[in-house]
Amino acid sequence: MNTVKTVRELRAAVAAARAEGKHISLVPTMGNLHAGHVALVEKAAQRSDFVVASIFVNPLQFGANEDLDKYPRTLAADQEKLIKAGCNLLFTPSVEEMYPQGMNEQTRVSVLGVSEGLCGASRPGHFDGVATVVSKLFNMVQPDLAIFGQKDFQQLAVIRTLVNDLNMPIQIIGEPTVRSADGLALSSRNGYLSDEQRKAATVLYRSLQEMAAALKAGERDLEKLITHAQSQHTAAGFRPDYLEVREANTLRPVTAEDRHLVILVAAFIGNTRLIDNLLVDLDTPA
Ligand code: PAF
Repeated sequence: MNTVKTVRELRAAVAAARAEGKHISLVPTMGNLHAGHVALVEKAAQRSDFVVASIFVNPLQFGANEDLDKYPRTLAADQEKLIKAGCNLLFTPSVEEMYPQGMNEQTRVSVLGVSEGLCGASRPGHFDGVATVVSKLFNMVQPDLAIFGQKDFQQLAVIRTLVNDLNMPIQIIGEPTVRSADGLALSSRNGYLSDEQRKAATVLYRSLQEMAAALKAGERDLEKLITHAQSQHTAAGFRPDYLEVREANTLRPVTAEDRHLVILVAAFIGNTRLIDNLLVDLDTPA
């Protein structure tokens, strides 16, 4: 696996692969890779002949009071994982390489609709930062396909909409969330948790599963389900951010006709904000 830091080197390496007729995939990441990222790269290696991964902690998607400075940087360990997972080329640009005119001068990409509400409401500007950096990476690599985790469910919806709205010829693949044995969704931010918080965090997925079971059993009082689950989160030491049930394809509020739902949660434990989600197909038996 070759590691390059500049757009020029990236383009040259991708062009060489393309000249050999290779089908190219991209897995954008912010590093501090865990088994969830490894699964994305492995999937990319199955679905293409040349896997490009990027590691860039994108300042444009962090709010003023967020964890940009303490976001873990673990390049050597990440490189080892990427090699094992079948990555061919790693792009690790600096902030200056990505935003040569400075971030204030950078053209922004705003995806309307799906980026509003949920994390879009709690983290103003976040999805503009994501859509902008992902658009830039797509233009730099011009991959045939790109792979993202379903754990960031709204982000995946934003990226699908972006590609569709801007006519980008890139297939977007969403990969299921990888979880610890106790159900906690893998996330770089789990590393911020104390042992006690780490144990308490399992309440999130447990409560999503309970809500899903109740919905499948015919419960339609969403308010009641949400209030109950959030009281479980609070009892476990969380400060709720949001917990919502939405239509899974569009992320719009649920109507009585919808059969394909997603429950999305965000909550703080200490200073750490965790997110998770669970798809609920009402036509599939529990
Ligand atoms: O999901 C992430 O790690 C980031 O939001 C992404 C897609 C790499 C953009 O910076």
